Amino acid sequence: MDSRLRGNDGKMAKTVLILGANRGLGLEFAKQYAGDGFDVIATCRRPAEATELRRMGVRIEALDTSTASSIDALAKKLAAEPIDVMICNAGVYGPRSDGLTDMPTEDFDLVMRTNVLGPLRLTMAFADSVAKSRGAMVFLSSRMGSIATMSSASGIAYRASKAALNAVVKAASLELGKRGVRVMALHPGWVRTDMGGPSATLTPTESVAGMRHVIEKASDLHGGFYDNTGASIPW
Ligand SMILES: NC(=O)c1ccc[n+]([C@@H]2O[C@H](COP(=O)([O-])OP(=O)(O)OC[C@H]3O[C@@H](n4cnc5c(N)ncnc54)[C@H](OP(=O)(O)O)[C@@H]3O)[C@@H](O)[C@H]2O)c1
Repeated sequence: MDSRLRGNDGKMAKTVLILGANRGLGLEFAKQYAGDGFDVIATCRRPAEATELRRMGVRIEALDTSTASSIDALAKKLAAEPIDVMICNAGVYGPRSDGLTDMPTEDFDLVMRTNVLGPLRLTMAFADSVAKSRGAMVFLSSRMGSIATMSSASGIAYRASKAALNAVVKAASLELGKRGVRVMALHPGWVRTDMGGPSATLTPTESVAGMRHVIEKASDLHGGFYDNTGASIPW
């Protein structure tokens, strides 16, 4: 049975799967989509501590995006459910380096595992579920991963990881586009979260509201890299 909620108008609510939703932009995505009546599946590493998600009344599932077994377990659990929008949001910044610097191998590996390998595995794990809805896969990238516009070497592990993520997104758009899945990379702007810090220019509310407008246009924006206003960013 299709377990998606029915709205007041009797129509089937769309299902949004938000990966990494317990704080920052992921939490804001959950808040806004739930407020608009979507069926929200919000994942986090420690569901027992996800008090804000619980308060919203959304479905909460456990997921560590850096671990293959955790991804497999969630994909198995959700296999029967069509997903309209998958938002691959979880990410880490890694070493706050300035210029080209060496770093502990494990620090670099964690950034690449979380920001690149995790999204690649998630893409494969949920391809069938999103294809069932001819839905969208959205990946939180960063302008810092744009090679064409790069003007600084700060945060080099993060930059390299988001450039690599962009390659995953482009490859996914080529493969999954044939199955009706719309795929895009999004830069949220510079946002006041734990990662963005207090000097950032946007609130999570503003950033996510903008990104949701861009996601609504997914069918026209397939295979591209956009910011929170819908402006195209060169790869
Ligand atoms: N904020 C900005 O200005 C900005 C700019 C450009 C791009 N972005 C991108 O936007 C996305 C969200 O950023 P944010 O600002 O909301 O960051 P944030 O406040 O640091 O939150 C990061 C989120 O990712 C989750 N996460 C990290 N590693 C995970 C893992 N292995 N498994 C599952 N969840 C994991 C965290 O969960 P825990 O609580 O369990 O750690 C948290 O929910 C990221 O991909 C980031 O690169 C942000």
